[in-house]
Amino acid sequence: MSITLQDCRTRDAQDPLRALRDHFALPAGVIYLDGNSLGVAPKAAAARVADVVTREWGSDLIKSWNTASWFDLPQRLGNQLAPLIGAGKDEVVCTDSTSINLYKVLSAALNIAREDSPARKRIVSERSNFPTDLYIAEGLCKERGLELVLVEPEEITAALTSDVAVLMLTHVNYRTGAMHDMATITAAAHAQGILCVWDLAHSAGAVPVDLNGAGADFSIGCGYKYLNGGPGAPAFAWVHPRHASRFWQPLSGWWGHAAPFAFTPDYQPAPGITRYLCGTQPIISLSALQCGLDVFTAAQSLGGMAALRTKSLALTDLFIQLVEERCAGHGLGLATPREHAQRGSQVCLTRDEGAGVNGQGSGAYAIVQALIARGVIGDFRKGDGGTGRHKDILRFGFTPLYLGFEDVWNAVEHLRQVLESGEWQKAEFNQTHAVT
Ligand SMILES: Cc1ncc(COP(=O)(O)O)c(C=O)c1O
Repeated sequence: MSITLQDCRTRDAQDPLRALRDHFALPAGVIYLDGNSLGVAPKAAAARVADVVTREWGSDLIKSWNTASWFDLPQRLGNQLAPLIGAGKDEVVCTDSTSINLYKVLSAALNIAREDSPARKRIVSERSNFPTDLYIAEGLCKERGLELVLVEPEEITAALTSDVAVLMLTHVNYRTGAMHDMATITAAAHAQGILCVWDLAHSAGAVPVDLNGAGADFSIGCGYKYLNGGPGAPAFAWVHPRHASRFWQPLSGWWGHAAPFAFTPDYQPAPGITRYLCGTQPIISLSALQCGLDVFTAAQSLGGMAALRTKSLALTDLFIQLVEERCAGHGLGLATPREHAQRGSQVCLTRDEGAGVNGQGSGAYAIVQALIARGVIGDFRKGDGGTGRHKDILRFGFTPLYLGFEDVWNAVEHLRQVLESGEWQKAEFNQTHAVT
């Protein structure tokens, strides 16, 4: 039976997580389906950042490293984040960017894997992994005379051969929203003596993750997506305790030193995860990230990540069903898996090459622009222009902390109108901007 707007309103009224929406400063007239790119500002963030600037920095100045506990903020936030990703206490730090943290953990993973077996000269990853992951790995391979091997998802197991040092994967694919089975893949890699590095950019705060349960080796992820830490928010790094004290990470700055205020000329790494810090931390940004993490702490009493996952799947199921019911006949396809176990918290629609204006391109970019003009914010990811397996993608992220079922209904209704009216064909929606 078809779903109605009233059904969606009823589901919102029955939603046990509904109150969490009040933690966010959602702009009026906007349906925000881009929390997988930049999360919405928690209401607490503006006041918290203002307090850090005016009181902690403005009045208390340098004393705040001690009096406002600035100094251990990366570790404290790491501990607050840990339950969301199945990490233990003192196993996570919030610091630096995802790319930089990947450089640190991938270097350490290579050191460990190659100390045990120097003949291992390969890093394996997925061809459609997020480019920064591939670029960082490529750079490390150049530096060390190693080889980066890129495969399709169905080729991963066969690529786990005895010459591979590290398998580096993103848990939820940024283009398709497809989610790997972390425990099974990690076990398959370990059976071949290969270490696993997991990028949780589209997983942390989006789906339940169990790094320790999966026996993973290293992990990193973003603070500004589902964790709602603000643009360019500090990222995080996790290292399994069995590896944490084995090697220096390559950016051996003074904040990773065992005694930074001893100011010795030689480097002695701090024990455990603290050695994954590098230099002086961005306290204002860390304070904003804390506001994002505080919402997850508040969600604990409402069922935590398990309840958020149930709602996320209900939202993405609803979106898929409504698009298929109400937007049929406009050349849309589904790039995201239907199976719950293989789906993150986003839905990606495809559009064929040649379906755009005058048979040029797919029109996917223009459709997204027309939706944005109506206040429905998703984004576009370019395909390979019909040359391979990747089509242009209309990408919609679903953050269960602040989205409701009526939002999904309204978003699909806008999409239906944009497609049926053909308004996406207007010239203004077909001009590309620097950031898509
Ligand atoms: C899988 C993945 N890794 C990393 C990043 C970004 O890294 P950084 O925050 O260093 O720009 C993204 C950004 O979208 C991503 O999707």
